[in-house]
Amino acid sequence: MAKKKNEEKVSVDDQKEDERKKSMSLIDLPGVGDATKKKLMDAGISSIKELALYPITRLVEDVGLGEKTAYKLVKAAQEIESMGFKSASAVWEKRKQLRRITTGSANFDELLGGGIETGAVTEIFGEFRTGKTQITHQLCVNVQLDHENGGLEGSAIYIDTEGTFRPERIIQMAEARDMDYNTVLKNIIVGRAYNSDHQILLAREAARFIEEKNVKLLVVDSIITHFRSEYIGRGTLANRQQLLNSHIHDLIRLSESYDELAVVFTNQVSAKPDMFYGNPIIHTGGHIIAHGSTIRLYLRKGKGEQRIARVVDAPHLPEEEAVFSITEDGIRD
Ligand code: GTP
Ligand code: MG
Repeated sequence: MAKKKNEEKVSVDDQKEDERKKSMSLIDLPGVGDATKKKLMDAGISSIKELALYPITRLVEDVGLGEKTAYKLVKAAQEIESMGFKSASAVWEKRKQLRRITTGSANFDELLGGGIETGAVTEIFGEFRTGKTQITHQLCVNVQLDHENGGLEGSAIYIDTEGTFRPERIIQMAEARDMDYNTVLKNIIVGRAYNSDHQILLAREAARFIEEKNVKLLVVDSIITHFRSEYIGRGTLANRQQLLNSHIHDLIRLSESYDELAVVFTNQVSAKPDMFYGNPIIHTGGHIIAHGSTIRLYLRKGKGEQRIARVVDAPHLPEEEAVFSITEDGIRD
């Protein structure tokens, strides 16, 4: 009995502590004034959690903080976020609370253990016309559904690097679900990225309104296009990989900072080997991308509207496949 009471007390204290932390912002940290806050915000750091996850070297090099200041700030942020060890049961409790966004196909959802995960980064890769863009459109609609229907009652940010975002398609998908398409369109914030620097900047800017706009899904379609075209054949592959790496880490940090945010990016693969990517069906970006995403999905074409999704090295899902279709109404079984 006494033990039970104790546990209850602990969880009440935990809750209070959580609330206190949630109400803290960057400006509450020692030594952070308006100028430092602005620097941090410009780098896409808008919360204490994001700061706690930020590499100190980048704070010095990119954000322009002094080494000592950077160290102090990160340390203070990490203490507030209690980023030490925790028990596996605490980790399990947290994972049980993770919500998912339905893809629109029961088969596909089942493959994913219920849908696209929040608090994680999902990479969708495949050849052209395999449905990467269609899936990301569908997710922008589905994230707005209520919880009972597989949504998160939230809005979406869509970083479009190829100019293939189509409101017309969103309208079709929304109408197929009997949703008011005007509302659905309003809840999708689209950023057209014109080059890789712009893309990086947009991802950092996104951090600013995740909370304010109740954003539950962040899409980058596709992650690699600009990086590939800008750096090809210039002998600057290492430079490209470094930039891409830091961009992906910005995305990972966002997914880790917001438990209810799902981050999804797409990636092209080419079946035709070229001088850069010697291996057929290797996704561009090489190892950096493979290690940056929590769940990787490989798409390929089936008959007609059918597509096959395969889970590739997700930490908790078996390597299985599911068949889904791209229909007039969107993604279905
Ligand atoms: P890339 O960006 O070129 O690498 O391709 P992707 O993987 O993004 O392909 P995308 O998502 O654009 O999928 C294209 C496929 O979706 C095509 O095979 C189309 O037939 C199908 N599709 C797109 N719009 C519609 C539609 O309104 N109705 C139906 N039935 N299919 C559609
Ligand atoms: Mg596409």
